[in-house]
Amino acid sequence: MIVFRITFMLRCNEDATSARHQQSGNATMNNSATSSAAESSTRTMTLIDNATGRRWELPIIDGSLGPQVVDVRKFYADTGMFTYDPGFTSTASCDSAITFIDGDEGILLHRGYRIEDLAAKSDFMEVCYLLLHGELPNLKQKTKFEHDITYHTMLHEQMMYFYRGFRRDSHPMAIMVGVVGALSAFYHDSTDITDPYQRMVAQHRLIAKMPTIAAMAYKYSIGQPFVYPRNDLSYAENFLHMTFSVPAEEYKVRPVLARAMDRIFILHADHEQNASTSTVRIAGSSGANPFACIAAGIASLWGPAHGGANEAVLNMLQEIGHKDRIPEFIERAKDKNDPFRLMGFGHRVYKNYDPRAKVMQASCYEVLDELGIQDDPLLELAMELEKIALEDPYFVEKKLFPNVDFYSGIILKAMNFPTSMFTVLFALARTVGWVAQWTEMIEDPSHRISRPRQLYNGYAQREFVPIDKRS
Ligand SMILES: CC(C)(COP(=O)(O)OP(=O)(O)OC[C@H]1O[C@@H](n2cnc3c(N)ncnc32)[C@H](O)[C@@H]1OP(=O)(O)O)[C@@H](O)C(=O)NCCC(=O)NCCS
Repeated sequence: MIVFRITFMLRCNEDATSARHQQSGNATMNNSATSSAAESSTRTMTLIDNATGRRWELPIIDGSLGPQVVDVRKFYADTGMFTYDPGFTSTASCDSAITFIDGDEGILLHRGYRIEDLAAKSDFMEVCYLLLHGELPNLKQKTKFEHDITYHTMLHEQMMYFYRGFRRDSHPMAIMVGVVGALSAFYHDSTDITDPYQRMVAQHRLIAKMPTIAAMAYKYSIGQPFVYPRNDLSYAENFLHMTFSVPAEEYKVRPVLARAMDRIFILHADHEQNASTSTVRIAGSSGANPFACIAAGIASLWGPAHGGANEAVLNMLQEIGHKDRIPEFIERAKDKNDPFRLMGFGHRVYKNYDPRAKVMQASCYEVLDELGIQDDPLLELAMELEKIALEDPYFVEKKLFPNVDFYSGIILKAMNFPTSMFTVLFALARTVGWVAQWTEMIEDPSHRISRPRQLYNGYAQREFVPIDKRS
């Protein structure tokens, strides 16, 4: 195969330093986020083909925070070439005004509010409203929103039969993908995605029904009867009630656990254009049913490199078993010939401590304290592992810090959730983020079907060989 190699020189046509990078440590200063398309700056970049001397000028676009982007939308039409970026490490796939992450500084903002403030001072229903509507609700708006969510928590009775079709030992994420996908069959004709009212009802249904679906997946796996939602309970209380109560006796939700559950939901609510969110956007870009798009997001979240990591962290801690074995596993994580990775460490965007991990760590102590769990061996092991890894030159040089999944598994285990439910809880909480991002895309008049290009490296056109002539 012949390979053509062209070297380009990219030159910035204004002598400004990277203004966006300079702002990164100062995320609250430029707070003029708009929900409209990003603004073009006066800067351009010139692309020069060093073989022919041909030049192309590319516009540079400003966001309100974060790196500027080079607009390559007309690149193919102008140059006849594609850009190449597998894994999207340098590619912005959309405009968004929902979530901002500064991975170098460890900052996460939802609609401009720091995640630490939201976790400490707000609750999940407020965060849902904020993600969907762009502003924190006033009391009247919050009361109405909570009412709208509460009154959509029940599932169509026919849906119970879906559960019976699964084996009892099915992974609850498999059940989630199936049942949430099946919701599209119940709400297809009533979901006209061009109608704002119907979009809003779909948003409410998804956020409201997810705890019921998740709790039922758990109940089914342990052979207990499904527990119906209760409208007098908060979102987190209701989920704990549907998961842990049985018809035979009264179940009282402990306030500290409800608060911890609510905080876990807040910490997982959205995280800009990660794999599952991009999956939801890509699925939705064709105009597909939103319930089916969320099922696609759940499938993407399931993998151990994404939402499946919380389950993988606990399995890893159990496998390590004792502090004495930590050095052995650290060495394995560093060995390029060993597929083992330290689960709950590293992140595509964060090259600093994940701010969610800090809140999660504090929550973890609160929950263990409330439950009277002292000297929990897994927590001690996790803390020792974190300490050793944070001092190890390999992890320091590669900027591998604990992420949100590192501590969430320990809390969830203490709360009595089986490991197989960990990613389900992540999916439940992330549904609002998926729905907000899907809505933002549908409401963007410039959105088009997502259709990436490729660098083809297969055969060139060749003659068909009849079967009797094939070797
Ligand atoms: C999250 C993750 C998928 C990010 O992947 P990514 O952005 O593609 O980063 P890479 O896989 O290119 O990793 C960069 C380097 O760090 C190393 N690395 C990343 N995470 C690591 C980990 N958890 N343990 C050991 N080494 C790790 C890689 O081997 C790679 O080394 P190299 O440059 O010598 O090849 C990755 O860090 C990971 O697999 N973490 C564990 C799973 C996890 O906790 N996921 C939850 C994310 S919220």
